[in-house]
Amino acid sequence: MSIQIKDEDGIRGMRVACRLAAEVLDYLEPYIQPGITTNEIDKLAHDYMVDVQQCIPAPLNYAPNGYKPYPKSICTSINHQVCHGIPNDKPLKKGDILNIDITTIKDGWHGDTSRMFSVGETSIAARRLCQMTFEAMWHGIVKVKPGARLGDIGHAIQRFAEGNGFSVVREFCGHGIGLGFHEEPQVLHYGKPGTLEELVPGMIFTIEPMINAGRRDIKELGDGWTIVTRDHSLSAQWEHTVLVTPTGYEVLTLSAGSPTLPSFVTTTAC
Ligand code: MF3
Ligand code: CO
Ligand code: CO
Repeated sequence: MSIQIKDEDGIRGMRVACRLAAEVLDYLEPYIQPGITTNEIDKLAHDYMVDVQQCIPAPLNYAPNGYKPYPKSICTSINHQVCHGIPNDKPLKKGDILNIDITTIKDGWHGDTSRMFSVGETSIAARRLCQMTFEAMWHGIVKVKPGARLGDIGHAIQRFAEGNGFSVVREFCGHGIGLGFHEEPQVLHYGKPGTLEELVPGMIFTIEPMINAGRRDIKELGDGWTIVTRDHSLSAQWEHTVLVTPTGYEVLTLSAGSPTLPSFVTTTAC
């Protein structure tokens, strides 16, 4: 399969699915407190998606090639967990940072977004990692326009992250998205300007950098899903789904609770 270009109908469908995914994160935010378990968060998210939004949680039973079916409705990745953490019965504790990654399916269209959350008061280092990873994602987003290349996005993210003393996870990347959860192209979070695929209006893909406080190396846990930093350093991730417009980008996974834009970002759609 090649990169799908979405038409007006597809874009309309994607706008809805993406907004719903962001609104799940808004809904969850007040619950992220010391003592709640990630299984409880998973149930809140599942019931909100199914009963209130009438959409499908895409991760549930998702089984890409070589993976066993994912057993929960959301991903919750805590502290040194990089991505794909599986909700469980362990309570969150003050000082934890966690990523919650939501993917909805509405009328067949997928919306994919994640944010970092702090559990009570967190360390200065943890807060800085979360904020820098948020800014790294936006450094990638603002590169999106027709004629730019995927390598421009990866380079902008890598340059910002490494310039601030962090490392970029290489093994996982952003992805095209639409009627499929993971479509072409792969959107690397590192790279060289002017390389790789040229962006064309109607492309929709995620930008979702995973940034580590320590070394970039990762490993997979025995559950077949959870990815952690090899050196157990903290890791953070943010994710938006982005449309290439005739003149720039439109961030699709926005909602009332989306965090304030970094100061270098002037617009969410252009
Ligand atoms: N939402 C993740 C992404 O951003 C994928 C999770 S796959 C799952 O691509 F099965 F773990 F949910
Ligand atoms: Co994604
Ligand atoms: Co995601």
